[in-house]
This record gives sequence, C-alpha cells and structure tokens, in this order.
Amino acid sequence: MPLDALQRPLRSLRLSVTDRCNFRCTYCMPAERFPPDYPFLPREDILHFEELARLAVLFTRLGVEKIRLTGGEPLLRKDLPALVKMLRATEGIREITLTTNGALLAGHAKALKEAGLARVTVSLDTLDPARFQAVSDTSVPLALVLEGIAEAQGVGLHPVKINCVVQAGVNDDEVLDLAGWARGRGLALRFIEFMDVGSAAGWRLDRVLSGESLRARIHARWPLDPVPQDRLGQVAFRHRYRDGAGEVGFISSVTEPFCLGCDRARLSADGHLYTCLFAGEGLDLKGLLRGGAGDATLEAAIAGRWARREDRYSLLRTEATAALPKVPMHRVGG
Ligand code: GTP
Ligand code: 5AD
Ligand code: SF4
Ligand code: SF4
Repeated sequence: MPLDALQRPLRSLRLSVTDRCNFRCTYCMPAERFPPDYPFLPREDILHFEELARLAVLFTRLGVEKIRLTGGEPLLRKDLPALVKMLRATEGIREITLTTNGALLAGHAKALKEAGLARVTVSLDTLDPARFQAVSDTSVPLALVLEGIAEAQGVGLHPVKINCVVQAGVNDDEVLDLAGWARGRGLALRFIEFMDVGSAAGWRLDRVLSGESLRARIHARWPLDPVPQDRLGQVAFRHRYRDGAGEVGFISSVTEPFCLGCDRARLSADGHLYTCLFAGEGLDLKGLLRGGAGDATLEAAIAGRWARREDRYSLLRTEATAALPKVPMHRVGG
C-alpha cells in the first residue's frame, strides 16, 4: 500500500458523480457566476457507472476502504442506487456513504438503503425557511429537506449527519437553535468552519468563526464532553452531550487543521484525481482509462500520484494562498 510523502495512507475516496446542483449556495455556486447556461460538464465527459466501478476496484487495491458519493448534488445523477449496488459488490469496500443537500432525499432514501448505502450526510445551514431559500438560492422549500432527513432516519440510514457551514453575520445567530433541533432528533450535527475552497466569495481569515468558539457557546447551554478520536484522519472533533442527548461535532479545518491524518482522495465526475480539497490541478484518469490503459497502468498512475503527495493546504493557509486558483467545490464535492 503506498504512503504519501508525509507517510499518510490512502483510505477514503470521495467520488463526485456530477458537477451539477439544484441549489446555488452563495458560498459555493453563486448564481451570478453559475447562470442557467453555465457550461457544466458535457454528458460524454462524465464517467459511466462501469468506469467508476472499475476505478473503485483499483483504489481498493491501494488501500481505499470507504467511498463517499458527492457532487455537485449526487442525487441529480440518474439511478444512483444502481451505482451504490455496483460499488457494494467491490471487495474491500467497508462502507458507502453520501453527502447531499437533501432536496431529493425524500422519495430516494429507501432505494439507497436497499442498494447498500450505509448512511447519509445532509448539508443544512439554517432552520429558517426564508433564510434557507436565500442562502441556498433555491425555490426548494426547507420543509422538503427536513422531510428527506426524517425519511433517511426512518429507513435506517443511521446515523444521519448534518453539515452546517457557519458564516459570521449569516447564520451564526442560529447555532444554539440548530444544536437544540439536532439533539432532540438523534442527528449528528457538525459545524464546519467557513473555508476558502473553490470560489468561496468574500472569504477572509478574520471572518471565520472558530469551531472552539461555537463549542464554548453550546457547552454553556448544554454541557459537552469530548469524545476520543476513534481514528486518524477524522475531520470532526466529536463531543457528547453530558445529558445523553447524543453528539455534536466541529470541523475546524481553518483554525485546527487535520492535514497530517488526511487519507482522502477525490475523483471529479470527469475522472480527474485530486489529492487535496484545495488542489489546483488533478490527474486525468479518464484520459488514461478511455485511451485504453490497462488496470496495471491505471493503478500505477494512481499509486505514483499518491506517493508524490505533499498536500497540507490547511496547515499552510494564509490570506495569500486563499487567492490561488483551486478546483471548484462543486467539482470535488467538499
Ligand atoms: P464521515 O466522518 O465518514 O462521516 O465523513 P466526512 O465527515 O469526511 O464527510 P463529509 O462529506 O460530511 O465531510 C464533512 C465536511 O468536512 C466536508 O464537506 C468538507 O467541508 C469538510 N472536509 C471533509 N474532508 C476534508 C478535508 O480533507 N479537508 C478539509 N479542509 N475539509 C474537509
Ligand atoms: N466552507 C466550508 N464548507 C463548505 N461547503 C461548501 N462550501 C464550503 C465552504 N466554503 C460544504 C457544504 C457541504 C459540503 C459538501 O461542503 O455545505 O456540507
Ligand atoms: Fe450548495 Fe452543495 Fe450545491 Fe454547492 S454543491 S451549491 S454547497 S448544495
Ligand atoms: Fe487533506 Fe488538503 Fe484538507 Fe489538508 S487541506 S485535510 S491535505 S484535503
């Protein structure tokens, strides 16, 4: 199994299945930059399920045990349960999960569970219906997302995690409301520090609310105890409510980077391999694959790229690096 230049193994693969999204979150795909005629990937450039499944096998030979399906919005991809089934059949994959905005979860959760999906993570930044539609710039009502979450819980996609990006002056006034809502429902809420990924508009270091400050606010209301990290490479600092109401987590990738345990690779829908969320360039596996490369050649290309990997962006971040060109968030799914 290859280790990268910082001695990190490759354990987790994030597969983006589409670069499209039915939301226009202001920090990810602002509508003025992603109008209806935006040139998303043409269908022929998007990897077929068979191609994804073939690559997944090669990744497992290099150490991958977990696959997370992402987008854009992965549920926009037709017949996603069929892909889950194909990936389930891959020896070495312990778990397949999904990160979604939840708009299409109601109605799809059962089929995903039956196909072998282990659990879902739903992005949700606010519980205020009007604010939800403004931040996500969508006509999809908040109620539909909440219905999707309930349905996912109902069919046993357990534990359902909620990702909440906190932005100062946008939704930081809702931290306690969100925590109170999630704790009453058995949901694992994680607050994510606002990052300078992709096109993050208006990002500045001094506008980031630290996970620690949010933890302190919640702790003052509902006392928390830290949960020991169960594995290296975990992104969230988990905390347990002392009163038994479950867990809350903090993904503090700006103020407390976790790069030294980072075991994640990302594959864009058009088959480019990125070894960091903030990478400028990817390795074109689709070109190799469709150029007729055999499994050994592909596996060597992936292993070689991983062996040279030195990525640790969050440890090196400054206001200057924030201005560097990076792979857009909607192409590598967070
Ligand atoms: P599990 O712990 O297995 O549930 O998966 P996860 O937490 O890695 O998945 P999820 O997609 O929910 O990740 C949560 C969020 O953390 C992502 O959407 C990103 O915003 C952030 N994140 C995940 N991985 C990384 C990473 O490698 N680097 C940075 N900087 N942020 C990450
Ligand atoms: N900072 C932090 N998290 C982000 N996400 C998207 N853009 C950002 C950003 N700039 C989150 C989404 C979703 C996941 C895929 O990444 O809210 O939960
Ligand atoms: Fe929002 Fe996720 Fe869509 Fe980006 S990909 S616009 S964060 S729902
Ligand atoms: Fe991994 Fe890059 Fe995130 Fe660091 S910044 S944890 S190297 S993806």
